[in-house]
Amino acid sequence: MCGIVGYVGKRNAADLLVKGLEKLEYRGYDSAGIAVINSNGKLEVQKVKGRLFNLEEKLKESPIKGNIGIGHTRWATHGAPSVLNSHPHINRTGTIAVVHNGIIENYIELREWLIEKGYKFITDTDTEVVPHLIDYYYEGDIVDASIKAVKKLQGSYALGIVSLNDPNKIVAVRKDCPLIVGLNKDENFIASDIPAVLNETRDVYFLEDNEFVVLSENGVEILDENKEKIEKEVYHVTWDADAAEKSGYDHFMLKEIHEQPKVTKDTMTSRIILGEDIKLDKINLTKEQIDKFNKVYIVACGTAYHAGIVGKYVIEKLARIPVEVDIASEFRYRNPIIDKNTLMIVVSQSGETADTLAAMRLAKNEGARVIAVTNVVGSTVSREADDVLYTWAGPEIAVASTKAYTTQLVAMYIIALYFAKNKGTLTDEEIEVIKKDMLELPEKEKEVLEHQDVIKKFAKDHFEETDMFYLGRGLDYAVAMEGSLKLKEISYIHSEAYAGGELKHGPIALIEFGTVVIAVATQPDLFEKMVSNIKEVKTRGAKVLAVALKGNENVEKTCDGAMYLPEVNPLLAPILAIIPLQLLSYYISIAKGCDVDKPRNLAKSVTVE
Ligand code: G6P
Repeated sequence: MCGIVGYVGKRNAADLLVKGLEKLEYRGYDSAGIAVINSNGKLEVQKVKGRLFNLEEKLKESPIKGNIGIGHTRWATHGAPSVLNSHPHINRTGTIAVVHNGIIENYIELREWLIEKGYKFITDTDTEVVPHLIDYYYEGDIVDASIKAVKKLQGSYALGIVSLNDPNKIVAVRKDCPLIVGLNKDENFIASDIPAVLNETRDVYFLEDNEFVVLSENGVEILDENKEKIEKEVYHVTWDADAAEKSGYDHFMLKEIHEQPKVTKDTMTSRIILGEDIKLDKINLTKEQIDKFNKVYIVACGTAYHAGIVGKYVIEKLARIPVEVDIASEFRYRNPIIDKNTLMIVVSQSGETADTLAAMRLAKNEGARVIAVTNVVGSTVSREADDVLYTWAGPEIAVASTKAYTTQLVAMYIIALYFAKNKGTLTDEEIEVIKKDMLELPEKEKEVLEHQDVIKKFAKDHFEETDMFYLGRGLDYAVAMEGSLKLKEISYIHSEAYAGGELKHGPIALIEFGTVVIAVATQPDLFEKMVSNIKEVKTRGAKVLAVALKGNENVEKTCDGAMYLPEVNPLLAPILAIIPLQLLSYYISIAKGCDVDKPRNLAKSVTVE
């Protein structure tokens, strides 16, 4: 993971680097650092352990003045979080500094090779080989040396490089890790993600793998590995920088939970219109092509994987195509059966998750058609997939995903309906009914958000628990998994999700007096079965909170609290049912005093395996 930035121009680099890093802290936050070529022509490095504000404090004590520099916020992979292991890393003479996002897989081999050549290593990181390699290859041109060094690297990287020998240039390159270039008058930037530059410019380049970029205050050159120039189109960012601010909410997560009605609507706009065919943007899939798909794989990680599980239910139910959902890191190594009649749907908020990308490339190589469902325009997934269906959630900053998940669900419904129409598995009338129900979702989500008392109280009464269980059947099981993940992520309470029917096959042994169980029971055809499951755990002393649809108030007789959702087409219930579970995790996390937006050990964008 990690976030990298770079600035060259006329302004004070340190200020702009720190501002950029603030927007990238979601990518990692165990240490931070910058390297600036100062006004005396020296390379000055400042690094701290912990959050970025420690770096800001350090810089207040000893400011660095200079107009060119690179910065880094770290999520440790190789080497514990410490000042020494934090980036930038430098060569032995302190003339070259490097920031890195990714993993250099052959670093041990390179390290040994460099040690033989007389280089000394002082950190436990994989990155440290890079400044030494550049140093080794340096013969008067930092770009040549960087190209030669990068050729030796295996693994994934986005690198930012500055050198005293070419003090007016930043060199950067990427492979399997995101990197953008921000373009402005008399100044230019590199960054792992757009929000880092958005306060300064809206014009960016998206770099592709193995492209080198050389930035000076006067311009930007993009080169291939042979130093041939590459022409690129400037992408103008249209979304608002405010979208990445808290707008009065205490935390990004709470803000993003409350944005769900809006983003649900945005993701449906222009795709779901009553009386008109469903539109999949520019995706051109004919009836013949859809008929040929004999298998759909939905592949993703984390929350996006949970959206995929809902996708499986709805695509199979509505379009009658067999769907397998896979965790990307498993899929890529299990030799899956793929051919040209396979459709892969990759789901990724960031569009940069390393395992998801690898799974997608594998499927493409085997001839599958790939549709990406992603939230980030220009992300690697969006560029490499055959087709893209964007989720219009806007920037999601909190590490725990909320609004992106909801929009991923919307995307799953849209795809399922499109397939159902083309395969003729639903009539036009049936499709119209579901579309109408979908269009009512934003109002219903608002209604759910207006009734948080039960959830707040339950969180207050139970924030000190050490274990919680989530139960559900059918679509509710998918929701239970996501609810349980949210709780783990931000409150550090151990939790498990089980399919209600599976309870008796083991998990019920864990239920004892006072064990908390969250029972999701929105599916009418499975409701009575869930009530039986609730009774089974109640009999053994569990404290149960049910999430059910209005009209099922009887459920309260069997449990200790209930949260009722507006009546809704059961197929669409996950979009409403997840909201109380997100809020429950949020309020428990607050009550425990956890860092909601930046939970320990996690990062938003996992660009390493
Ligand atoms: C990380 C994040 C999760 C996210 C997962 C997949 O683990 O913390 O919130 O669901 O990555 O990310 P993606 O960007 O591919 O959806």
